[in-house]
Amino acid sequence: VWYGLALLVVLGPVGVRVLTRPDPPRHDLEPAEVRQGQMLFSHEFTVKDPLCPNGDGLGPVFNASSCVACHHQGGAGGSGGLEHNVTTFVVRGTSRQGVVHTEATGDEFQETLANVDGSLGREKPNPKKISDMVKSRRVFLPSADLSQRNTPALFGAKLIDEIPDRVLIAEERSQRLRWGFASDTDERPVGRVLRLPGNRVGKFGWKAQSASLFDFVQAACANELGLGNPGQVQPASMQSAGYQAPGLDLTNEQCRQITTFVAALHRPVERVPANLDTQARAHEGKQLFTKIGCAECHTPALGSVEGIYSDLLLHRMGNDLSGTNSYYGQPVITVASNDLPRADEWRTPPLWGVTDSAPYLHDGRADSLAQAIIMHGGQAKTAAANFQRLSPDRQERVVDFLKTLRAP
Ligand code: HEC
Ligand code: HEC
Repeated sequence: VWYGLALLVVLGPVGVRVLTRPDPPRHDLEPAEVRQGQMLFSHEFTVKDPLCPNGDGLGPVFNASSCVACHHQGGAGGSGGLEHNVTTFVVRGTSRQGVVHTEATGDEFQETLANVDGSLGREKPNPKKISDMVKSRRVFLPSADLSQRNTPALFGAKLIDEIPDRVLIAEERSQRLRWGFASDTDERPVGRVLRLPGNRVGKFGWKAQSASLFDFVQAACANELGLGNPGQVQPASMQSAGYQAPGLDLTNEQCRQITTFVAALHRPVERVPANLDTQARAHEGKQLFTKIGCAECHTPALGSVEGIYSDLLLHRMGNDLSGTNSYYGQPVITVASNDLPRADEWRTPPLWGVTDSAPYLHDGRADSLAQAIIMHGGQAKTAAANFQRLSPDRQERVVDFLKTLRAP
């Protein structure tokens, strides 16, 4: 009875608020809008691009000149390799943080790592070289920390966008009830929802920093291509901050068209191998996946979305997997600072399509699936240790199961 009453006290007030949250709007995939969005997603933007009549087009700083340049593995909208990693930084003890852009429309705008920390070189940043610095942990500089983000695949984004907030909140609650409130040091897989301003819940991005697909697309247009829009101004160059664009590059309608194209991408598939032996191995691997604790965070279904293998919650993954910085140029996230994602917190990435999205983890530091699993720490330490205790043959079966998760 006491347990029941306690539950009522804990869940009662929140339950009502959660249940009355509006569902996210459903995407209407109007064919003309999808086509228009597809064109914009693949378009190579240029300075003063004709598609941006009010702005300056590409730049002044950017990471690539089209979305598809990075999102291409397994088709338009897929993931990208280390050569397209995005470098983020935070200057310790200040609110200065953002992205070091690899490209610029003119030498006067070209950012270098020296803009972040005087101890570093003034050459054009090379994502692969920075990735080597990350791997060898040479990113904790005298005054700043660097970190990288690898390009994720966008397949199935519509289904994620349409998951009601209350599903994530319910998952957070059920993990807490199952494992108790986790303290800072323990290793129980208790995730948390990232609460954003306006009573919204983070769903997209390695740090769950965006509440909706539309928000993320607007941020990507500005941060990756330098296309300012009503949702996000284009980043200023750290090299030459005085420059002002004549106006916004994209309209809300153009951002909506890109979002509709991304929403129209098919969801990843679970492809059962034709060979009966491999099929049996994958089947056993799937059972082991649950048995050793992977499914605690990589939940096979979330709400009505089957086969996502994620709870979309933030989990602490240990010191080796830390990365402090925000992906956004401007601190768009203005949540109370103690609610911001911590350096070692990452949103559980959906494992659907994982086979076709190497390299793995937030900065692509793992070349293989087995490596990615072994690098799990923090709240996933127990599951990773369970994996390592399996015989090599059974470890391989878990990987055989992951190999059935394919891009559409
Ligand atoms: C330079 C490479 C690059 C370019 C160009 C790029 N992206 Fe991305 N994209 C990334 C990276 C890296 C992330 C992960 C960032 C993070 O989560 O912090 C990402 C994440 C995303 C996400 C969130 C996916 C998820 O599930 O969390 C969306 C949506 C997205 N990009 C759309 C776009 C669109 C639309 C464009 C073109 C306007 C674009 N991207 C251009 C690299 C790129
Ligand atoms: C405590 C929650 C948790 C548990 C338990 C967990 N994971 Fe993860 N997993 C994550 C998070 C968070 C990441 C992203 C970490 C990062 O990028 O730094 C991740 C990343 C991955 C990736 C890489 C995905 C990608 O797109 O890069 C794979 C593969 C993976 N996990 C498989 C597993 C397997 C197999 C198990 C069981 C042995 C497992 N995970 C247990 C939370 C968890």
